[in-house]
Amino acid sequence: MLRRIAPGASARTAAKQFVDAGSYVFITGRREAELSRAVKEIGSNVTGVQGDVSKLSDLDRLFAQIKRDKGKLDIVFANAGLARYAALGSITEELYNSIFDINVKGSSFTVQKALPLPPDGPSIILNASVVASKGFSSNSVYSTTKAAEAGTNLVQVARISRDLASAHRSRGRRRHPD
Ligand SMILES: NC(=O)c1ccc[n+]([C@@H]2O[C@H](COP(=O)([O-])OP(=O)(O)OC[C@H]3O[C@@H](n4cnc5c(N)ncnc54)[C@H](OP(=O)(O)O)[C@@H]3O)[C@@H](O)[C@H]2O)c1
Repeated sequence: MLRRIAPGASARTAAKQFVDAGSYVFITGRREAELSRAVKEIGSNVTGVQGDVSKLSDLDRLFAQIKRDKGKLDIVFANAGLARYAALGSITEELYNSIFDINVKGSSFTVQKALPLPPDGPSIILNASVVASKGFSSNSVYSTTKAAEAGTNLVQVARISRDLASAHRSRGRRRHPD
């Protein structure tokens, strides 16, 4: 199985667990040195691909390499995320854009660009947060991005339901009108 994750603290632990369970893992992140450290720590069955999930050309390069090297992608763990804090009244445009670019744009395009990969589009795990539904005074922007990721999850569930219904129909079964 192949998985793609970012090499932060929690992601490194997850990557190691995936490898221990028999997966080959691709990890990505912007900082080359951190990426190399994570690859070394994970040890085997891992490739680091330097890149920024908010840049569509980097995502294209990442998924092209996965397809070229392994031919398929089974699971995406979209973990890359940024938490920066500012209370209402002190939120800047720069802070807003920096968080949305990674947490919302990055996750959305990671999902969109991963779906065409064989064998049948990977399973997608978006690493959201409890802050999607829990408010703290200083993290309104971060909370909003995590709620958006949760929304993307709902869209995925709707898409999978639609695909399952379509598969049932193509096998001659009818979906209940409800
Ligand atoms: N820590 C918590 O308590 C907590 C709780 C709930 C949910 N989460 C979620 O879990 C995820 C990871 O959190 P964490 O605490 O492990 O964060 P972290 O230690 O800061 O790690 C974040 C990782 O994402 C990578 N990353 C950030 N921006 C990126 C980009 N534009 N393109 C590619 N990689 C990027 C970073 O590498 P580079 O900087 O080198 O790019 C780093 O490896 C986030 O989505 C966060 O919202 C965290």
